[in-house]
Amino acid sequence: MRSCVTFLFSLLLAATAAAQQTIDLQKLDLAHMEQGWGNPQIDRSIREKPLSIGGQKFVHGVGTHAASVLWIELDGRTDRFQASVGVDDAAGGPAAIEFRVTADGKQLWTSGAMKPRDKAKPVDLDLRGAKLLVLTVDAAGDSINFDHADWANARFTYSGRAPRAVDPPIPPAEEAVLLTPPAGPQPQIHGPFVYGCGPGHPFLYRIPATGRRPMKFSAEGLPAGLTLDADSGIIRGKIAEKGEYRVILRAQNQEGGTERRCERPFKIVCGDTLALTPPMGWNSWYIHYNRVSEVHLREAAKQMIASGMADYGYQYVNIDDCWMKKQGELPYRDAQGAVLPNSKFPDIQGMIDEIHAHGLKAGVYTSPGPWTCGGYVGAYRHEAADAKRFAQWGFDFLKYDWCSYGGVAGGNDVAHLKKPYQVIAAELKKQDRDIVLNLCQYGMGDVWQWGGEVGQCWRTTGDLGCERGNRLPGFYSIGFSNARHWANARPGCWNDPDYLLIGYVGDAFGMGVGRKTTLTPNEQYSYMSMWCLMASPLIFSGDMARLDPFTLNVLCNAEAIDIDQDALGRQARIIRKTSSEFILLKDLEDGSKALGLFNLSEGPASISVAWADLGLSGKQHVRDLWRQVDLPAADGRLEAAVPRHGVLFVRLSK
Ligand code: GLA
Repeated sequence: MRSCVTFLFSLLLAATAAAQQTIDLQKLDLAHMEQGWGNPQIDRSIREKPLSIGGQKFVHGVGTHAASVLWIELDGRTDRFQASVGVDDAAGGPAAIEFRVTADGKQLWTSGAMKPRDKAKPVDLDLRGAKLLVLTVDAAGDSINFDHADWANARFTYSGRAPRAVDPPIPPAEEAVLLTPPAGPQPQIHGPFVYGCGPGHPFLYRIPATGRRPMKFSAEGLPAGLTLDADSGIIRGKIAEKGEYRVILRAQNQEGGTERRCERPFKIVCGDTLALTPPMGWNSWYIHYNRVSEVHLREAAKQMIASGMADYGYQYVNIDDCWMKKQGELPYRDAQGAVLPNSKFPDIQGMIDEIHAHGLKAGVYTSPGPWTCGGYVGAYRHEAADAKRFAQWGFDFLKYDWCSYGGVAGGNDVAHLKKPYQVIAAELKKQDRDIVLNLCQYGMGDVWQWGGEVGQCWRTTGDLGCERGNRLPGFYSIGFSNARHWANARPGCWNDPDYLLIGYVGDAFGMGVGRKTTLTPNEQYSYMSMWCLMASPLIFSGDMARLDPFTLNVLCNAEAIDIDQDALGRQARIIRKTSSEFILLKDLEDGSKALGLFNLSEGPASISVAWADLGLSGKQHVRDLWRQVDLPAADGRLEAAVPRHGVLFVRLSK
């Protein structure tokens, strides 16, 4: 009997041993692997060279590129995962990557940041019981440039079913909860506390205010030369003298026979600096592309008022590319040498007058090169005539691109990169109106270091609409990149991470018609919070004719916008950036701080931050900015449950 049991036992052991098999990672269906650049490579690097990490060669493995994700289904009977990981030796640039292995939502292993020439790091994990494995490579620095990543000698040992690569699970649908409380019937003035303008130049400001209309507006301390229309709340005129004018704006209405009033300080600084707070408005690019016409602009202005966006401070109505003549469509210019609009803009003057009549401002686009990015007439060698024409028409904002200028620049050092912006800035200065200059040259030559010498805001990255999203949508990588330049932002000088692409937007690659954003509600809250923390220009570029309640609730939260528009003009600094958490902290004029806890992971997570990391101490009042409610006071630290790709956006004060 005893020998029989032993026999059976050894049979069982033998069967188990026989059932244990191995499968290499590269044998899985890598079509399921997502990555930030190129396609996954079998037994070679992303550059199609032999796999090599820190000088060590590997025959087998997978070459990929951050940000890379592979989801693998297991049956609970996969015993081990082993690999050697690192930056591939052929990367040829300043890579920084982090490998992670996650099973059933729990992180099992991380490599920490790895740099080129680091020795391969071994991974050897017990996977028994695990059902869903995720292999991730994220950028450990700021961008994914040169992030060539190798999973070398990567293999699974299993005794049940072989591991199987699968598509990422579809995240549970999120309910589009409107967090922003609706504005009440009582008057409430919003918008910046400080406003810059030039002496002797036309002044135009529509007081942003929510509440039941009709409303009566008044102002105390308005400088000579300005008048306020009591019914519309539009201030017009000219201030002759430079100086600081402390104004109190007031609004009142009637509510059930009772008079309700509110007021807000508003400092007008008449001098040399425009855009003392980041510009807010709308731009035509991501919805109308080359279809744009005057009708769209007139309609956008109307909608900016009708939708209530203007009541929160949105002000600029900006045409992007494609309003001039296309290459070959002669004549390009008038007798004075100034650029001519195309047939879709038969009455630019009338269009701008209409925008101004609403109390809003108008913006235009061109390129310093002979042609714009869309192949329309640029300003090259006609800068003086074009600047003059823009001012005569009454434009208040100029987006100055770079396209086709590279061919005539004559060099790519900082002096050459600056030159076209110096030229146009000098021409704008000669005009008798305030024209905000937006540099659109994608961050070349570290524009954040010198953009303020010529203009008021500068794009720090390529086009957000063309940013290939991955595990995280494109606004995250643009945001992470823009966030690095926090120290360069100040009143009148803003880093510009590009537009707010929510609501109905058209695909930038095909210049498609507008479709509803695929961003989840939480991603949209994160997007807007990040832009407000970064003191970014808040320029919406979706369809003004299709503003749904959710989009408006994201765009029009007065307390969130106050963070963006804060008069101190600081951009948030990065407190923490890992592959699962991003924390930004912004100093505010009243001594309080705005804090954003962003959850970058694929499920809900608890994020905590200690006051020591924020330079705070003691008890802090915590205001939830989206919900506009006070949370319990916090002492020493803040900990919050944050949904997948969501944010906790708060203001901390004593
Ligand atoms: C560039 C800019 C975009 C847009 C297009 C227009 O790509 O970065 O924002 O202005 O040109 O052609």
